[in-house]
Amino acid sequence: MTPTSVTPISPTQEISAASRLENVRYAIRDLACVADEVVKQGHKVLPLNVGDPLNFDFQTPPHIIDAVHKAMRDGKNGYAPSSGIPEALEAIRGEAARKGITTVRDVFVTSGVSETVDLCLSALVNPSEDVLTPSPDYPLYSAVLCKLGIRLNAYDLNEEDAWQPELADIERKITTRTRGIVLINPNNPTGSLCTRQMLEQVAELARRHNLIVFSDEIYDKLILDGTPHLAFASVAPDVPCVTFGGMSKNYLVPGWRIGWGIVSGDAAAVKAYTEGVNRLLRARLCANHPEQYAIKPALEGPQDHLVEVQRKLRSRRDLTQKWCEVTPRVSCVAPRGAFYAYPKIDIPESDEIFVKELIRQKHVMVVHGSGFGQKPGTQHFRIVFLPDEQTLTKAYAAIAEFIRERY
Ligand SMILES: Cc1ncc(COP(=O)(O)O)c(C=O)c1O
Repeated sequence: MTPTSVTPISPTQEISAASRLENVRYAIRDLACVADEVVKQGHKVLPLNVGDPLNFDFQTPPHIIDAVHKAMRDGKNGYAPSSGIPEALEAIRGEAARKGITTVRDVFVTSGVSETVDLCLSALVNPSEDVLTPSPDYPLYSAVLCKLGIRLNAYDLNEEDAWQPELADIERKITTRTRGIVLINPNNPTGSLCTRQMLEQVAELARRHNLIVFSDEIYDKLILDGTPHLAFASVAPDVPCVTFGGMSKNYLVPGWRIGWGIVSGDAAAVKAYTEGVNRLLRARLCANHPEQYAIKPALEGPQDHLVEVQRKLRSRRDLTQKWCEVTPRVSCVAPRGAFYAYPKIDIPESDEIFVKELIRQKHVMVVHGSGFGQKPGTQHFRIVFLPDEQTLTKAYAAIAEFIRERY
């Protein structure tokens, strides 16, 4: 056989990632590399870093598991309608009514609130426009905006004012290119709740500057001080708004990936935008199908698990707060919702070094404030207070010892 000529294989060329991803960070997962080193050395790491209740002593309500199981058995395993199955949409409308949202224009189901965030931001911004996001924020917002090639425009949350949005900073940062504003309420990472007055003031700014408000209320049933949660859209029924909600936290199923959006506000004002969102909903076919059958039983069925979840979280929040009060160099605005505390720490080095050394030396994992954003010159770390009291006590003793030894 005569040898055939073959094209020489060229030296491997690197496939580069898009440069707009350079600012995409997810500090929570990035720290996992440091934790891996520690685990390889044979240590157990106390994880106070990931907001997954199922890693701790919280269980999914059985009746919603049964609903999904039944749906799978009944053959609900094909594609669902793009905006969601009718019974789920009806249940979400009912939930909107209970939240006091009276001007609902559309509802849709997504694969987690993560997908709601992605779709709603993607449907809004053109290149050179921007959306105001809180600082500190839940990092997905800045990640999606980076992915879209959008300049970040972050407004401060004011620690001196119980982490309320800093209105003057928002106002300063609104330009003719600003299209929307993100509120996270209850907040991750601070655990703060927006006051009614704050929601009214944000609504006034939105009206004045023709902005849409994205109100992320994924933790709205995890309020720890007995005050009712106030939905932005209930306070400002005329303002264009998408309220984000989901199953991950309130119903203890983060792995099912079920979230939703509730569009409200003046009908004419939100029409074109809603059509844009629906175009994207159709393009990605549908959200997870069988899991959508849990939405109605979750929202309309027994809510007993929430009493137990809130009881545990309140006790763990109180323990966390007490520790912050007695520990040198640490201070904290008491969290009022969700399961996060965001203490300030007064140290002569970066909070990222603090957090990494804490993992290496004491095997406790929290997340540095610089991973969420914070005012220059301040340092913080985020605690997830989901673990039981015994685990938290052990972790806090180790952090206090670390602070004492190092500073
Ligand atoms: C404020 C906030 N929004 C959205 C999400 C994403 O939620 P999901 O699991 O529904 O995608 C999280 C998850 O931690 C969150 O904290």
